[in-house]
Amino acid sequence: MKKYIENLRKKLHKANFDYYVNNKSEISDFEFDNLMKELIELEKKHTDFYDENSPSMRIGSDINKDFKQIKHNNKMFSLGNTYSKEELIDFDNRIKKLLHEENYEYVCELKFDGTAISLIYENGNLKQAITRGDGNYGDDVTENVRTIKTIPMVLDGNDFPEKFEIRGEIMMTHKVFHKLNKERAEINKSVFANPRNAASGSLKMRNSYKLSTRQLDCFLYDVRGENLPSKLHFENIQMAKKWNFKTSKNTKIAKNIDEVFNFIEYWDKERENLNFDIDGIVIKLNSIEQQENLGFTSKVPRWAISYKFKAERISTILLSIDYQVGRTGAITPVANLKSVLLAGTRVKRASLHNANIMKDLDVKINDKVFVEKGGEIIPKIIAVDFEYRQKNLDKIKDANYIENCPECKTPLLRKDGEAKHYCPNKYSCTPQIKAKIEHFVLRKAMNIRIGKSTINLLLKNNLIKNISDFYILKENDLIGLERFAEKSASNLIKSIEKSKKVIFEKVLYAIGIPYVGETVSKKLVYNFKNIENLQKASFEELISIEDIGERIAISLINFFNDEENLLVINNLKNYGLNFKIKEEMVNKEGKLSGKKIIISGTFENHSRSKLKSLIELNGGKNVTSISKKTSFLLAGTKIGPSKLKKVEKLNIPMVSEEEFINMIK
Ligand code: IVH
Repeated sequence: MKKYIENLRKKLHKANFDYYVNNKSEISDFEFDNLMKELIELEKKHTDFYDENSPSMRIGSDINKDFKQIKHNNKMFSLGNTYSKEELIDFDNRIKKLLHEENYEYVCELKFDGTAISLIYENGNLKQAITRGDGNYGDDVTENVRTIKTIPMVLDGNDFPEKFEIRGEIMMTHKVFHKLNKERAEINKSVFANPRNAASGSLKMRNSYKLSTRQLDCFLYDVRGENLPSKLHFENIQMAKKWNFKTSKNTKIAKNIDEVFNFIEYWDKERENLNFDIDGIVIKLNSIEQQENLGFTSKVPRWAISYKFKAERISTILLSIDYQVGRTGAITPVANLKSVLLAGTRVKRASLHNANIMKDLDVKINDKVFVEKGGEIIPKIIAVDFEYRQKNLDKIKDANYIENCPECKTPLLRKDGEAKHYCPNKYSCTPQIKAKIEHFVLRKAMNIRIGKSTINLLLKNNLIKNISDFYILKENDLIGLERFAEKSASNLIKSIEKSKKVIFEKVLYAIGIPYVGETVSKKLVYNFKNIENLQKASFEELISIEDIGERIAISLINFFNDEENLLVINNLKNYGLNFKIKEEMVNKEGKLSGKKIIISGTFENHSRSKLKSLIELNGGKNVTSISKKTSFLLAGTKIGPSKLKKVEKLNIPMVSEEEFINMIK
């Protein structure tokens, strides 16, 4: 039976590789599904033949998990950036000098715009997958990575080193990215700004089953370890391809810097035909021995560099300007452009941000404007083509900033020191009400399952006027409305009911106080514990909290001075929403409360940023300079001698990483 299961696994691994990496299939989808079903059944029966790298693991698990932090065996460096040929010539001259006129050649690669990953293989099996993290420590995302079909779990052949590391970039193709965003928008979830964010956000999903449906991809570009098959980087990559890794077919050797320039020129144009994003090219010395001789500066390798493409730019005509009203009444001018194709997408609109930016650009209607697109979805207007204006003065019309709200006609205000204009009509300006409600129901807020069009429907039928009205809705109010049947009505009411369990920090975020985002909300909740304390807090008390500045403090005070807001909060309280921190969180927080803690040295199992956030989560404060008031020093290895001396002199206790973790357990 063991042999039979192993054969089944081999067949499925091969079929997967053929389909996802080689884009060919020798067996049909139907056959594949049947073989997979059979394997899963057999694995259930014969648990003693468990294999962490079985093809069945590609499906993922729906158990949510937190990621363990792991120290990289070799630090994950980033690359130096260049933007001009001159800088590349300088790089080439530095190499020449450092190699004392030895012969050398470069390997040119695409610079994949995704998120870096380090994969460890032992005896041809995937053992561990770690994100870049801070370069020294990353998150263990092995289980998630097993769901990425282009990453082999078991290697082909027998000429790979016993143990090695391979690095690459986890990516999302344009097609998958657009589909994902479309689906998210339909269910009122925030969309990802670009495929890079979508890839890194997906990789950190806590539920690997859901991740397996995201169709991530991965290009591998760096093999490291002892006993590698070749002394040349290029050849090792070709070998990796033979072991079943997905490598780029566009990697090329360049004998000199002119050949590097040819590669750059080709890809600067050709990149728009790729089905994924690249943001430049990478140039590396081919000889691993030369790479090792040159080594690294404190941040980047001396043997490699990246050349970043300039953001793509195009000119088009500005047809008109719309003014959008946001949740807090802030007005954003948006340019309507004569549609143009830019970096593979059709561009019709661009944000103009605020009146100051419009004034600085000096834009007018019917101007020709230069539009630029970096990695983000929304393009920017960077300048006006004044030459065109001069020739077409008869067409050009002034673009005067509006004085009244485009929706409710209330005169706009502009607060001192703020760039944006506001519509002060908070309670009856329709787009503000709509946006507040849309914010309230977000997944990261109250998580009420309702789309934008249904919100419109409820508003139109006067069933809701503000966020608290959700909680008086009844199934009967909904049945009979357009698109509402009994089932959908009952689902919505259930989802509203469920939202009463949402924790305080999310409720506080959901009620939409200007400048109170998710992080600020968390801070306020840990510090004030309940809404009454927060409501009473003075300006001084508020700004004494780390990361709460004057702007947030003023916004909070204004919010709680407003009768209408107090009424809504009171209603929400009466409907049973959480307006105080959960008891267990208070206790947990108390463990380090009032303690001032220094972090020093290097640590085995946690990164410094993780330790810092553990301190804060438990009510302590991470301080950087030693004084009599320091409670203890969280000590790793390699603490500097002067720090040690000071700690001893002031009699400050030292706590090891393990003791610290036990303290907060
Ligand atoms: S080599 C020590 N090659 O760019 C050199 N990196 O800005 C290690 N990247 O963290 C990197 N394509 O995530 C290398 N062909 C390529 C790459 C590449 C994309 C990313 C990688 C790295 C970042 C540095």
